[in-house]
Amino acid sequence: MNTLRVGVIGLGIGVQHLRCYQALPGVEIAAAGDQVESVVRQRADEFHARAYTDPLAMLEKERLDAVSLCTPPKSHRELTEAAARAGTHVLCEKPMAPSLADCDAMMDACRRAGVLLMIAQKKRFHPFVQRTRAAIESDFGPIRWAVAKYALGRVPKDWFWQENDGGGPLLENTIHTVDQLRYLMGEVSTVYAEGDNLFNPAYRPQIDVAAFTLRFANGSIAAVGAGQATEWAFANEFFFFACDGGEIRFSGPFDRPDRWWLGRRDQIHACEEESLPPFDAFRAEIEHFLHCVRTGEKPLIPGPDGRASVAVCLAVKESARARRPITPGA
Ligand SMILES: NC(=O)c1ccc[n+]([C@@H]2O[C@H](COP(=O)([O-])OP(=O)(O)OC[C@H]3O[C@@H](n4cnc5c(N)ncnc54)[C@H](O)[C@@H]3O)[C@@H](O)[C@H]2O)c1
Repeated sequence: MNTLRVGVIGLGIGVQHLRCYQALPGVEIAAAGDQVESVVRQRADEFHARAYTDPLAMLEKERLDAVSLCTPPKSHRELTEAAARAGTHVLCEKPMAPSLADCDAMMDACRRAGVLLMIAQKKRFHPFVQRTRAAIESDFGPIRWAVAKYALGRVPKDWFWQENDGGGPLLENTIHTVDQLRYLMGEVSTVYAEGDNLFNPAYRPQIDVAAFTLRFANGSIAAVGAGQATEWAFANEFFFFACDGGEIRFSGPFDRPDRWWLGRRDQIHACEEESLPPFDAFRAEIEHFLHCVRTGEKPLIPGPDGRASVAVCLAVKESARARRPITPGA
């Protein structure tokens, strides 16, 4: 196996990426970047990497095989374009970018440079999501009706709330659920949302919570409750899917669903129920990314998928503000 030289830029959640790269064979962590010098020095020492406070200089000088971009969304476009110029494959944290124009520029830069662009929507790798995919692709048939609850705890980071950066909870975080629903149910044709700032007056006028419906191109519908409405100590998530063949539910602590349930309509006394230990979705995602870099295989979440999920989240906010149904990306 050839050794890949990788780097990570943005050392908040980026530290999880560093830990995953460090644990995998055939990977050399060549460089770590963060604009805060104390942060980057500490992590570069810990992971035996060269430290950069200027990520553009890092990409230019290091000529890495692959990089994880783990900075806030506003910077994703500039860093992706710089990585593409350097011939470096990109794993970009969600949300892909704050605007569809940025998403388009990122895809364009990577396409022209011939580098791979994968968006880090890690939830697709969770075993419950993969099991649901397998069920709908076999005897269950498509999900016709879904309900999701995905509310997070408090996030006192300014970039998270800014319209031109994280875009608030309905973009920055709800995108996990939107992407999961798109992966399982297909493209969204119409969004209708009621939303408001009900818990975070300091961040008005940003919307902090919403209840919204999604109509999918195949006629299926989903109801979603999402936003910043809870406390981390007891935040949890819940998904319910109804198909012709039966029902699937999974739930658990926020970002760590651990309980699975499946019932078949023709075997109502033989329901499956299971608890799983915590699953490391970051590791699965990074293993997949490196596999794609090595083989040239198309990643599970290429640029157009990242863009489509951003479009739905932006439509949720637009619908809540305009109080009318919106077609995503129109
Ligand atoms: N997949 C997941 O489960 C998951 C979890 C958390 C965060 N994220 C995503 O990761 C990204 C970062 O989130 P976070 O929680 O780590 O944020 P954070 O604010 O905790 O950390 C971001 C780090 O990036 C650095 N930084 C910011 N702009 C930079 C720039 N232009 N150049 C170099 N360094 C820069 C900051 O100094 C900081 O150390 C966001 O897009 C977020 O949505 C994903």
